[in-house]
Amino acid sequence: MRMRKVKWAVDYLNDANCLIEDPSALKGTWKERFDQKKIHVEIGCGKGNYSLNMAKLYPQEAFIAVEKNESAAGIAAKKFDDANQQENLVLIQKDAANISEWFSAGEVDVIHLNFSDPWPKKRYAKRRLSSSQFLDQYAQILSDEGQIQMKTDNSSLFEYSLIEFQNAGYRMIEISVDYRRETHDEDVMTEYEEKFVSLGQPIYRCVWTRNNKE
Ligand SMILES: C[S@@+](CC[C@H](N)C(=O)[O-])C[C@H]1O[C@@H](n2cnc3c(N)ncnc32)[C@H](O)[C@@H]1O
Repeated sequence: MRMRKVKWAVDYLNDANCLIEDPSALKGTWKERFDQKKIHVEIGCGKGNYSLNMAKLYPQEAFIAVEKNESAAGIAAKKFDDANQQENLVLIQKDAANISEWFSAGEVDVIHLNFSDPWPKKRYAKRRLSSSQFLDQYAQILSDEGQIQMKTDNSSLFEYSLIEFQNAGYRMIEISVDYRRETHDEDVMTEYEEKFVSLGQPIYRCVWTRNNKE
């Protein structure tokens, strides 16, 4: 769904403290930037609740939220700055299509794909954040023990992703077709997730790694 332009939010991006303007300039130095913390990257963070609340829950880990939409990113940026969370939380307002230009090999520990746009039409399949174009780049930037954690309400996107990950050489280590059936205090809810859970819809979740250790 297209988001309406929110002028104050777009304007806010001009002065946001949490914003990383040129992520490729930090390639290879992210661990230094974050004091050797474990690095999480959330792609398509929307208005930012997930990365913000995870950064609060895990102050010893670092969160890099990526959002291409200016209005959503501006709203997230304001929240991040207001929370004064700069020690372990930053925002990149860009399309992640070339994400491997921002991180060097093994620099990222966890990639989060939360309620990614499903792009149901086949001609737009390349835009899905779990398409092979993205999965090949994630494989380059993930650490040896690295993980990709995906949550969605969309069963078609979930089915598509299971095959894409398998074909790209990932190994599934966790799967649930009703993740919030149990309490998961260790993993906060996104804005979309709150909405779907309140409607009683199941949340599909899967975690993949590239390492072969059982
Ligand atoms: C459906 S929303 C979900 C937002 C949030 N993750 C949540 O669960 O509430 C998906 C978001 O991903 C962003 N997005 C989609 N493709 C992207 C890309 N290639 N790079 C960065 N952001 C992207 C969209 O702009 C949108 O804000």
